[in-house]
Amino acid sequence: MLKKLSINSLINAQDLSIEDANIIFELTDFYIKEYKPGIKFDELKGVTVAMAFFEPSTRTKLSFELAAKRLSADTISFQSSTSSLTKGESLIDTLHTIEAMGVQMYVLRHSKSGSPKFLMENTKGAILNAGDGKHSHPTQALLDAYTLRKHFGNIKNLKVCICGDILHSRVARSNIELLKILGADVRLCGPGTLLPRFINIWNCEYCNDINEAIDWADVLLVLRLQRERMEAGILPSIREFNKYFGVSYQQFLRKKDLVIMHPGPVNYGIELDYNISSHPNCLIQTQVTHGVFIRMSLLALLGQRFK
Ligand code: CP
Repeated sequence: MLKKLSINSLINAQDLSIEDANIIFELTDFYIKEYKPGIKFDELKGVTVAMAFFEPSTRTKLSFELAAKRLSADTISFQSSTSSLTKGESLIDTLHTIEAMGVQMYVLRHSKSGSPKFLMENTKGAILNAGDGKHSHPTQALLDAYTLRKHFGNIKNLKVCICGDILHSRVARSNIELLKILGADVRLCGPGTLLPRFINIWNCEYCNDINEAIDWADVLLVLRLQRERMEAGILPSIREFNKYFGVSYQQFLRKKDLVIMHPGPVNYGIELDYNISSHPNCLIQTQVTHGVFIRMSLLALLGQRFK
């Protein structure tokens, strides 16, 4: 019998309580321990999960698909570019059409902030936000926090500096929310043009450049420079960004035990040197591995009500 979360859908990281996060982490520990290739769990047997990705994704989409399959769910994959959206069908009609086919859970990625909340308010199913615009990416924050918990044993008072393109980053927003719930000390580091205007609402201190961030932090959570979301002129020089806010191999080696994380995909040579990627304290691949098990837990916990 699985424990119950306080939520029926996951839209924002800040909707999670500490108890919710711990329930998800404990079940993740269980799946990591018990999973063997070829094994299937039956927590989602008889439940149908739709993967609705309106924006490109590799890690989130594949890991949610794998997670649902390992729990014996039926899955369907919705491609916006080949759907009736191209003929003018609305998002809400698309949801109701999929719902009429007997789907109970929706994993949604969309470029418009607020889409998952809008759909949640219009369905009896469960919505799992897989990233909406610049707003929120709660399962990334969960897998990042889980990775830190495994590596350090505890998140409370851990010094985490989120570095780079914070303005465009749903990963930054969700990590700030969840890490603060879990008691971490969070700072931010990035050029002024890539910080949100109303950044004070997060009550985070700043590091002026990457060297200051390295001196302070136990962990650098380095973000992708999201050039596809940038207005012209917002970042005059990639070389200058790399000089003050990118992490070079030499800078990384300067602090023993410094941990590097990145949600991917990485722009190597811009926010991070490629040589760092193979160092044991670079947890990028571990984050990806944990992503499958965190999503298994979340699907199993939120899917209970459909059994
Ligand atoms: N971290 C992340 O969301 O990666 P994808 O865009 O590949 O899903």
